[in-house]
Amino acid sequence: MKKIIIGNWKCNPLTFAQAEGLFNNIKKGIKPVKNEIIICPPFSYLCCLSGNSFKLGAQDCFWEEKGPYTGEISPKMLKDLGVEYVIIGHSERRMHLGETDKMINGKLKAALKSGLKPILCVGEKKGENFKKIINNQLSLDLLGIPKKDLKKIIIAYEPIWAIGTGNFCEAEKAKQTMIFIKSKIKTKVLYGGSVNSDIVVYYMKNGFDGLLVGGASLNAKEFIKIAKNA
Ligand code: PGA
Repeated sequence: MKKIIIGNWKCNPLTFAQAEGLFNNIKKGIKPVKNEIIICPPFSYLCCLSGNSFKLGAQDCFWEEKGPYTGEISPKMLKDLGVEYVIIGHSERRMHLGETDKMINGKLKAALKSGLKPILCVGEKKGENFKKIINNQLSLDLLGIPKKDLKKIIIAYEPIWAIGTGNFCEAEKAKQTMIFIKSKIKTKVLYGGSVNSDIVVYYMKNGFDGLLVGGASLNAKEFIKIAKNA
């Protein structure tokens, strides 16, 4: 089974020249990799990087198709650019931009309607009860989405305390959450949070369907290693 390896570039790099360089370096190294590689650059680089050998994902989308919504990007616009995936509900958006489960639910429905494949991020803060938090996120985020569409949604389990800290969640521990998520929704579950090439194999051994990689996806060599080790 192909694993799904997603590079979430977040708000990086600063120039298109750097983005193109990173993209080309990943492309060169990753050719023989059997896994599904998805790169999620900032919106402003999406159209310049489309038409390449990778699958492209956006880091967010709006819940309406078009209209008077200054600054928003609709899923239909992304689809038109050749984008296939979209990250929805990343904890950084929930925390810094006040994104609520209701907004996330609207975004998921809009993405599905336009034929984008959503990657829904869920995860608990340090010390929180993961079952309670994730159960709550899943039930609100997926509210009213028909069963046939649920399997089109990829879930990324990203414990908030593990993101960007170097303090990843041990694969055996993360597995408990993955099993919990799979008991609620029959779909692919990825792990995210301080992933590096040395630990990839443990998540794969423990049954994860892939990885959502942040910081390490900005380093072409490291990202290629992650994709190869998965
Ligand atoms: P990180 O980010 O790999 O830098 O921890 C993961 C993410 O936020 O998706």
